[in-house]
Amino acid sequence: MSSIGSRRGRVLSGMRPTGRLHLGHYHGVLRNWVQLQQEHECFFFIADWHALTTHYDEREVISDHVWELLIDWLACGVNPSLARIFIQSWVPEHAELHLLLSMITPLGWLERVPTFKDQQEQLREKDLATYGFLGYPLLQSADILIYRATDVPVGEDQVAHVELTREIARRFNHQFGREPGFEEKSLAASRKMGKKNDKLYRSLRKKYQEQGDADALEVARALVERQQNITLADRERLEGYLDGSGIIVLPEPRALLTRAPRMPGLDGRKMSKSYGNTISLREEPSEVERKIRTMPTDPARVRRSDPGDPEKCPVWDFHKTYSDDATRAWVQQGCRSAGIGCLDCKKPVIEAVQAELRPIRERARELEEDPDVVRTVAAEGTEAARDAARETLVEVRRVMGLDYG
Ligand code: TRP
Ligand code: SF4
Repeated sequence: MSSIGSRRGRVLSGMRPTGRLHLGHYHGVLRNWVQLQQEHECFFFIADWHALTTHYDEREVISDHVWELLIDWLACGVNPSLARIFIQSWVPEHAELHLLLSMITPLGWLERVPTFKDQQEQLREKDLATYGFLGYPLLQSADILIYRATDVPVGEDQVAHVELTREIARRFNHQFGREPGFEEKSLAASRKMGKKNDKLYRSLRKKYQEQGDADALEVARALVERQQNITLADRERLEGYLDGSGIIVLPEPRALLTRAPRMPGLDGRKMSKSYGNTISLREEPSEVERKIRTMPTDPARVRRSDPGDPEKCPVWDFHKTYSDDATRAWVQQGCRSAGIGCLDCKKPVIEAVQAELRPIRERARELEEDPDVVRTVAAEGTEAARDAARETLVEVRRVMGLDYG
């Protein structure tokens, strides 16, 4: 886990199309994506196959939500001219990589992923003793590795999946990254960078290998990354030769843990469809108002004259997200002294949520009326993603010995 450093990383993340998005998604995920797309090459996709692993018996849930999800993304500012936005099942390369990775994935690694047992227990009404469900995190690894993503923004619950992805990548590179004549080929690749860079590369490598100089490793990696005129295979050799392991076909990604401001649900628990405590991104203004007006508050404030404690009230969490210092001070003082009533206190929150959702709802409505626009975004994003995916697969097939003919 880390923040993205100075290197322009490649970011990938996905969401399962299983429900309408709500404010928790907006503050926890989408605002982060919108920011990331400004600075990084981003791939955002709808993980419809992943949804199928748990919702295979409710097909319409998935098909209904694919387009709704895309509309919500676009309405929140995920921008198809900055990020590649696509649908997983439209890029069958993910499935091929999943299959190829399955050849080297020990069963125990999958059985030990915490979500495997947890979800089986939580979703008892479904039969999740399936091959597809066991393979869920491996499919996720394929999603990530096929784009050679460097950074994967995820919530806490998904960190174990990125960790598995790193282990799979390591195992894959170890198994298939050892080509005959690796050293000679790496040195030849280094010469192709030109005399000066060749010399620099070799001295940085030496510094790293002999003195463990991590900065030298970073500089050397950046040098390799800057090269425009070398083949992908040579780039992998040059990266792998730095630490001597062999070619790096599939780089290890990092989990980029989303440090979201805490955006709880209406009842103070995590905002989640299953708790029925959400405000959806396309909620009607009258509903937004009703839901916040009826939110529970500090139970000690039975009467208007009873003082309260904001720390015991979910409305206060909303103020933390939406209000400025002056308003917060007014809440603290007014609540503790019973100077304000809970409805007074909720008013600025209602206004802030309405102001936030208004443009999102409007953009979503325009997109609802123009389904062609949405479909074009998905089609174009998918084509662009496929180009990147195919490039990786050519390499994967080559090192696995599948490049005959
Ligand atoms: N498993 C993720 C979730 O449930 C969705 C997902 C699928 C994903 N593939 C991914 C997230 C690749 C990040 C990267 O939220
Ligand atoms: Fe909660 Fe505000 Fe009421 Fe205090 S005044 S209990 S913070 S709603």
